[in-house]
Amino acid sequence: MVGKICGTGSYAPALVWSNNKLAEMVDTSDEWIRERTGIARRHVISGIEDAAYMAAQAAQEALKSAGMRSKEIDLILVATMSSEGIMPCTACEVQGKIGADRATCFDMNAACTGFLYALNTAQAYLGQGIYRTAIVIGVESLSNQLNWKDRSTCILFGDGAGAVVLKAQDSGRYAQVTHSDGTRGEVLTCSSRNQIRFEENPKDQSTYMQMDGGEVFKFAVSKVPEVIRELLRQEKLSADDIDYYILHQANERIVRLAAKRLKLGMDKFPMNMEEYGNTSSASIPILLDELNKKEIFHNGDQIVISGFGGGLTYGASLMEW
Ligand code: ACO
Repeated sequence: MVGKICGTGSYAPALVWSNNKLAEMVDTSDEWIRERTGIARRHVISGIEDAAYMAAQAAQEALKSAGMRSKEIDLILVATMSSEGIMPCTACEVQGKIGADRATCFDMNAACTGFLYALNTAQAYLGQGIYRTAIVIGVESLSNQLNWKDRSTCILFGDGAGAVVLKAQDSGRYAQVTHSDGTRGEVLTCSSRNQIRFEENPKDQSTYMQMDGGEVFKFAVSKVPEVIRELLRQEKLSADDIDYYILHQANERIVRLAAKRLKLGMDKFPMNMEEYGNTSSASIPILLDELNKKEIFHNGDQIVISGFGGGLTYGASLMEW
């Protein structure tokens, strides 16, 4: 059995902060941010929006796109590192909000690789025949985890959610390769769950996101092509056999370098970080939803998704659309 994506959804907060808005907060510029990252703006939670709210909105949209009711869902997995609370988990909050009363629900945290790991986990349950349907969600309210006075991090990230609905089918394809390197965790850290924005709660700055950007960059541009090649070797495919590579949307330069190292054109590497910034575990499902809504994918397309992030964690998965 294989889980097939039969619906997608996403949610981006209405409030949008442009690079120019950030230039009023820290010493940076629209030109610097666009050139180094490809990011032009990011969506930021306000009012009633939090991780559970965004995740539930994305899940509901995904259910609608799948033509399914919430009561048909057996499993809800939420990948996040920035939910406002610790308990109940965000997946249970989503269950309560959408009325998926049959579902088993839990959260997973593998930073920006979270959605990939959660999708792999859901596929394992569906592959074993334990569950037949699942919603996998990536959601982040990173604006709460950022030091808005640190220009080396705050310009990169954004808030949002993306979701996919999976249904078990007899035929289809799913394969995965994942790795973690716990010896290198210090290059990307966030030591506390900050429920209040930095500007309203300027406590110990070390509790907010900290990053050695150069090291993260080097890690990403070496490991992403490496793990994709490993997956392709395992599946006896060439890089050209793949129709689309959906990479975590951290930075345009990372995606471009990965494509170059795989000797592929950018037409196979759709991107949307210009609009959302790096939404961590939400970036891959938001992009999947965007492409699905634009009807870019066709039945049988071979799609590789690849995530990388804090932990350090990274991986690549192959699926058939
Ligand atoms: N605006 C203006 N200038 C800046 C900014 C800013 N926001 N940030 C740094 N600078 C300055 C630096 O101080 C430095 O100045 P100096 O030369 O006078 O010392 C100069 O710009 C160059 O700084 P670098 O850090 O070398 O810039 P770089 O080209 O490496 O780009 C960046 C920095 C964008 C952070 C890059 O390293 C990067 O993208 N790293 C990966 C980050 C990432 O993707 N993290 C998340 C991935 S995992 C996950 O998603 C959780």
